[in-house]
Amino acid sequence: MTSFHDKVVYQIYPKSFQDTNGDGWGDLKGITARLDYLADLGVDYLWLTPIFPSPQRDNGYDVADYRTVDPRFGTMADLDTLIAEADKRGIGLMFDMVFNHTSTAHDWFQKALSGDEKYMNYYIFRDGAPETPPTNWQSKFGGPAWEYVPKLKKWYLHLFDVTQADLNWENPEVRAELKDILRFWKEKGIKGFRFDVVNLISKGEYRDDFEGDGRRFYTDGPRVHEFLKEIVHDSGIDGMITVGEMSSTTIDNCIRYSNPKEHELSMTFSFHHLKVDYKNGDKWSLMAPDMHALKEIFAKWQEGMEEGNGWNAVFWCNHDQPRIVSRFGDTGKYWRESAKMLAAAIHLMRGTPYIYQGEEIGMTNADFTDIRAYRDVESINYHDILRKNGKSEEETMKIITACSRDNSRTPMQWTAGEKAGFTTGTPWLGLNKNHETINAEQESADGNSILSFYKELIRLRKEMPLIAEGTIHFLERENDDVLAYERQLGEERLLVFCNFRPQEADLQESPLTYEKNGWQKLLGNYPECRANLRPYEVVVLKK
Ligand code: GLC
Ligand code: CA
Repeated sequence: MTSFHDKVVYQIYPKSFQDTNGDGWGDLKGITARLDYLADLGVDYLWLTPIFPSPQRDNGYDVADYRTVDPRFGTMADLDTLIAEADKRGIGLMFDMVFNHTSTAHDWFQKALSGDEKYMNYYIFRDGAPETPPTNWQSKFGGPAWEYVPKLKKWYLHLFDVTQADLNWENPEVRAELKDILRFWKEKGIKGFRFDVVNLISKGEYRDDFEGDGRRFYTDGPRVHEFLKEIVHDSGIDGMITVGEMSSTTIDNCIRYSNPKEHELSMTFSFHHLKVDYKNGDKWSLMAPDMHALKEIFAKWQEGMEEGNGWNAVFWCNHDQPRIVSRFGDTGKYWRESAKMLAAAIHLMRGTPYIYQGEEIGMTNADFTDIRAYRDVESINYHDILRKNGKSEEETMKIITACSRDNSRTPMQWTAGEKAGFTTGTPWLGLNKNHETINAEQESADGNSILSFYKELIRLRKEMPLIAEGTIHFLERENDDVLAYERQLGEERLLVFCNFRPQEADLQESPLTYEKNGWQKLLGNYPECRANLRPYEVVVLKK
């Protein structure tokens, strides 16, 4: 068995997880303090979003130094303690390597700015007149992807924020630096890595894009597989658990990234299933999820990756996505049912499941209605862009409230008490008001809670090799109310039926008929099986 197929990863957004010194920022000591909670949940790895020194323009994805910890999160000694304490509980740490770009505050970029040729060659600088950027590419956070430096009379590329300068992977010295950083953390005891937007590292041609924002010229670029093989091999991390975040990628590329024969990565994050509520591909729009599209994407990616011997990271939530229960589920009457259904839908697929902090207790969108409550650079930029495009403040805020990344970044809700047990000070980002009813303390005390259901899913993965290793085949393809699939390993079979609607839904074959034919109900979010599925019902049957 490949070692990571039966594992579960829990993503921590350290800034919002647990504060221990009252400064309103989560810290490493806070993670250590919550290890028993995580061990009890049953997760194997903790992926920490970046904790490196950073100006925090993009919450740590703008790294100023890859080899130490930002003092606001703690010290290297705190990290050593966290690694050791996690290890005692059988939990490994995964670090988030932001290697497509650095912060412009990084030493390398500062030296480049001072005209040092060696370091200018670490980045992507292009000559040009101050009025005309080298290409018309757009930054993913809005505005042009190039910034002019008058002193150098050159432009530099930033696919993200203007303070996130893209690294020049064509330069072998850059690759050597990055390998050294990986070796450094491996020696420290870090057990795996997540690579941020790693399919953007190999830029192809620098040409104007008259059809899109430029991404077709640098996504899954010409040397990306070669570069990945090289850094993974040379840094000695082959065999460790690794996951690449793949922006606007294709299945053929993801097979190559994750097929063990290629020696690139253990698995890939792709995002097509989280764009089914984008109107005409626009993230900043309001649309109900297109269930038909969702089903087709899952079928294609699950069956396709199996065929190519690739491996998916399966997930609904992360620090860039609104909360799934607000998005595809229900935050009212069927909050609990829908959160459990969504959990089962993902955890029983073929792939390694990722849980984002708070998902396991059914945390919902923050629903902040005033732009001043937001901290995320992308949300703030798009607020301005939407206003400039003629939307009223009210229309704009409806969109920001639904789509902002800050929805998932509000502090973890530990208790019903003041500040939700997250801090004694003022949290860096406001708390969700509903922490009085949605919190870990309450969920832990309830055997029928969402949290208990996640524990059960994790336990089942450890017990049933079928969940980790079985084949997958999608069913009920024409029924847009229901996501359904079958898993199989040898003689053993599992059926998963998920109703995504707040009404009852029919199946081609009733769950009761399955029971009559020798199938056994293994798991569900309602008591005994009925002839159809109740609102947001999930039924899992085995034979
Ligand atoms: C990834 C991160 C996101 C960040 C971006 C730029 O998408 O998940 O939070 O803003 O990369 O580093
Ligand atoms: Ca703190």
